[in-house]
Amino acid sequence: MSDTTPEHRRWSPTHGEPYRPTPYRPVRVPPEESLARAARLRQRMDERRTVRAFSPDPVPDQVLRDAIACAATAPSGAHQQPWTFVLVKDPEVRRRIREAAEHEEELSYDGRLGEEWLAALRPLGTDAVKAHMTDAPALIVVFQQRHWLGEDGTKRKHYYVDESVGIAVGMLLSALHLSGLAALVHTPSPMRFLGEVLGRPSNEKAFAVIPVGHPADDCEVPDLVRKSLDQVLVEV
Ligand SMILES: Cc1cc2nc3c(=O)[nH]c(=O)nc-3n(C[C@H](O)[C@H](O)[C@H](O)COP(=O)(O)O)c2cc1C
Repeated sequence: MSDTTPEHRRWSPTHGEPYRPTPYRPVRVPPEESLARAARLRQRMDERRTVRAFSPDPVPDQVLRDAIACAATAPSGAHQQPWTFVLVKDPEVRRRIREAAEHEEELSYDGRLGEEWLAALRPLGTDAVKAHMTDAPALIVVFQQRHWLGEDGTKRKHYYVDESVGIAVGMLLSALHLSGLAALVHTPSPMRFLGEVLGRPSNEKAFAVIPVGHPADDCEVPDLVRKSLDQVLVEV
């Protein structure tokens, strides 16, 4: 699919416009086919792991763009699509992001997090060293747009921003995984430095940094157990 949309189909604010319906008739998937697709997808998604040790091997730019395009199909409150994805490949910018993130993480791991938070992190084996930010060939920095900002400075409230961006990031992670790439959701706290380093406008707040690439040859992950279906599902 092309990355450029014809001018008449490019998004522009629809605030206050009347309802304009269009037919929607997706092909109905027969139950057997649906069952087979669901079982396969469940298995593929169960294979996803958060990777913190990346190979520097490059990944095709178009796979990253396609994954971001998938994320941007996410549902959002009032269809306000309150997200921006910054794809960072420039090694010098990644180095600056790593330096700033490690500064914050050192303060966090040296006590700012508190004992309860540190105890929650202990099984993951993480520390203040964030080599993934410079080892992985690309970072996708996700920003949430707290409000819409017109070119003339007009502000308009965005609704359900956290929920919308969280869903979009879930779809991004799924797209990356199903395309054969590994990723990590990294949330250095506080994250204000990301907007500063990347020169983002005042209505955008950093949500997460997502290093993307292939796992290092000697990559290890924590031996975690996921909740089973009966532990997460209540059928009424
Ligand atoms: C909102 C969110 C924030 C996270 N922040 C971090 C982080 O800052 N650093 C990190 O190493 N992992 C982070 N993770 C990754 C989780 O630790 C990881 O998803 C969890 O341990 C389960 O492992 P899995 O993804 O391999 O199933 C985060 C995940 C989420 C969803």
